[in-house]
Amino acid sequence: MKINENWNIPNLNEAKQRTKKQAVIEKSLFNIPFEVAQLGVGRTYYLRTYGCQANERDGETIAGILEAMHFTPVKNVEEADLILLNTCAIRQNAEDKVLGELASLKRLRKTNPDLIFGLCGCMAQEEEVVKTIIEKYPHVDLVFGTHNIHRLPTLLYQAMMSKERTIEVFSKEGEVIENLPVKRFGTHKAWVNIMYGCDKFCTYCIVPYTRGKERSRQVEDILEEIHVLIEEGYKEVTLLGQNVNSYGKDLQIEGGFAYLLEEAAKTGIERIRFTTSHPWDFSDEMIDVIAKYDNIMPFIHLPVQSGNDDILKIMGRRYTSEQYMTLFHKIKNKVKDAAISTDIIVGFPNETEEQFQDTLKLVDECQFDNAFTFIYSPRAGTPAAAMEDNVSEEVKQRRLQELMDHTNHWAREKNQAYVGKVVQVLVDGPSKKNPSVFSGYSQTNKLVNFTGDGICAGDLIDVKITAAKSWSLDGEAIKVK
Ligand code: SAH
Ligand code: SF4
Ligand code: F3S
Repeated sequence: MKINENWNIPNLNEAKQRTKKQAVIEKSLFNIPFEVAQLGVGRTYYLRTYGCQANERDGETIAGILEAMHFTPVKNVEEADLILLNTCAIRQNAEDKVLGELASLKRLRKTNPDLIFGLCGCMAQEEEVVKTIIEKYPHVDLVFGTHNIHRLPTLLYQAMMSKERTIEVFSKEGEVIENLPVKRFGTHKAWVNIMYGCDKFCTYCIVPYTRGKERSRQVEDILEEIHVLIEEGYKEVTLLGQNVNSYGKDLQIEGGFAYLLEEAAKTGIERIRFTTSHPWDFSDEMIDVIAKYDNIMPFIHLPVQSGNDDILKIMGRRYTSEQYMTLFHKIKNKVKDAAISTDIIVGFPNETEEQFQDTLKLVDECQFDNAFTFIYSPRAGTPAAAMEDNVSEEVKQRRLQELMDHTNHWAREKNQAYVGKVVQVLVDGPSKKNPSVFSGYSQTNKLVNFTGDGICAGDLIDVKITAAKSWSLDGEAIKVK
């Protein structure tokens, strides 16, 4: 493999390391060099984002930067002068999808020889992926990672002017940069990063390597962002972190996430959500704050991963199934009508049938409102990847199906209980198929399709639920708030 000396290739061993050094918070580091600012005049870009909300939010920053450089967005890849794939590395099938897409997009070079292909996001942070791109995908012109999005103007300039491949990925996280531009994709719902990175190192998970160590934003910067969003007419914010419970630990913020959440609630924004919370460090103070404020939505995503203590231990989750259940019931008892969803992995190395049955038992006890279920996927460089991936594909598929039979059953049951009740819905807009049907989400994050008159996206509407389906509720609007 020919490695250009100007390239910066990620190194997994470096990405694993954690230093005690606090991240510097930069309020004005980002700027677009003068000669670069006009690069997008008369040029178009197409951005596709995969993966979690953190990546979605990064996509909004990338779009903000590109539009500050005068690039125009297009919805069709065929019309683009710049194609950027903002990727996810969480499971192998996510990566395969992107590599397939990259191969198929190559054809566009023929009709547009000046086309620039770029790859960014979590896959770009992986040493193996970048080596594969260098060797097998010569048409990829630009690779940058999650830690140097602020370098996009300069890197893009290099790639376009030199017509040479530009690869710059930092293995280690850098500063928290506060002055990056943002183009919000939502008109009444917004993502708000409260922290970056993850130090939990669950043994199966790639995120601590692709996102670096935990770095919190300052309380005042987060609150300022929420105030601006309120002024702009936003009704809902979702506070984002890989594990929001760790918020503020690095900055020694007293009260941590519970304090931030309370301050966020006091801004008066109509709705606050947050994701994700690790069951391990979910504090009682957090539960009290959620219960206290009407504008903190009674919906908690609480990934359990497995119902078996030995598997949980090898996963490095730091709780037992009993501790999970205790927390689960504490939340249910204190937060009125709370809905709880979860993530579960089947087929972790050595998972026996009995251990899998423990997961089913836990699912039946918790009766989750919703569950995201996954087949274990080994990620290169993680501790679990050193174990033999020895549950056969056939068994994994069967366990997934069986698990989904249980989780779907409870999702339906939970939805059924809403029939006849009135819920508050934040309207996303009319349905694509039928303009007199609207859709939106309830406080407990249920998708609601409903009929009504004079309704606009962003309205908060009371809706009477008339029927329940597995993944949504049907209803009729009562009144505009
Ligand atoms: N920070 C979030 C998780 C982000 S990843 C949290 O801890 O909740 C979302 C989900 O993907 C995880 O909860 C887990 O269920 C799943 N996941 C992560 N790594 C995986 C892997 N290697 N194979 C299969 N599923 C995985
Ligand atoms: Fe991954 Fe665990 Fe961190 Fe979630 S908490 S991102 S599962 S390492
Ligand atoms: Fe995927 Fe990276 Fe998010 S691996 S799930 S995009 S943090």
